[in-house]
Amino acid sequence: MSSVLLSVENLVKSYGARRAVDGVSFRVLGGQTVGLLGPNGAGKSTIVAMLCGLLRPDGGRVTLAGEPIAVGTSHVKRRIGLVPQELALYEDLSARENLRLFGALYGLKGAPLTGRIDHVLGLVNLTDRARDKPATFSGGMKRRLNIAAALLHDPELLILDEPTVGVDPQSRNAIFDTLEALQAQGRALIYTSHYMEEVERLADHIVIVDHGKVLADDSPAAKPAASTSPWCSRTPARSARGSPPV
Ligand SMILES: Nc1ncnc2c1ncn2[C@@H]1O[C@H](COP(=O)(O)OP(=O)(O)OP(=O)(O)O)[C@@H](O)[C@H]1O
Ligand SMILES: [Mg+2]
Repeated sequence: MSSVLLSVENLVKSYGARRAVDGVSFRVLGGQTVGLLGPNGAGKSTIVAMLCGLLRPDGGRVTLAGEPIAVGTSHVKRRIGLVPQELALYEDLSARENLRLFGALYGLKGAPLTGRIDHVLGLVNLTDRARDKPATFSGGMKRRLNIAAALLHDPELLILDEPTVGVDPQSRNAIFDTLEALQAQGRALIYTSHYMEEVERLADHIVIVDHGKVLADDSPAAKPAASTSPWCSRTPARSARGSPPV
């Protein structure tokens, strides 16, 4: 059995008087995909920001392979790749130049950086558009370049915050093909979405959140959670790739 890669324990975060995240716990095993499912405002992006050490929790903790993740712990954070909900691309630089810039931010340079850029462009199927600017890309192609940027430093865990927003079914399938290739390499993923069918297709485990709380969780070692929310109207405990829940 895989060991625990990411452990999220009782995370709490408020913005002023509003409690955006209210005691969220779940785990991700090495090589597994956890789907974080919930409606607008559920707290998904706030959770993701705390998982990546971009936002300081008011309470609780996150550990990656046993090491705490906090704002400022850069060596642990380097093991995580984040695909943010908002596209983070320079429209006037080519796809390759964008990746060169993001690679430099991770401390990559020279031939290793060029090799990684070629590799990630191939993974997201944009090799033939490497010289073009994102300003000339479709929404789906921009989303794929956004994913490529998060993979440059070869992270163990890739966190994707609603990576299919605004893309058509064909581009969505292209994104899923990329993610399934990453799964086949044994990479762990956290995939946030509004759509049950997306997380059912990709995820080994599904964590349903609403109003900052976990409503249902079939992630490893989770306690059974019961809820009457419509977000729990379908059975979350399902493995899209045939392996039984651990
Ligand atoms: N910077 C902020 N300042 C104040 N409130 C915020 C901030 N960011 C998020 N919130 C609030 O926290 C709650 C959770 O927001 P969050 O963006 O985490 O939800 P989400 O699940 O990612 O939603 P969506 O699916 O729309 O992206 C919401 O009530 C939101 O209004
Ligand atoms: Mg969000």
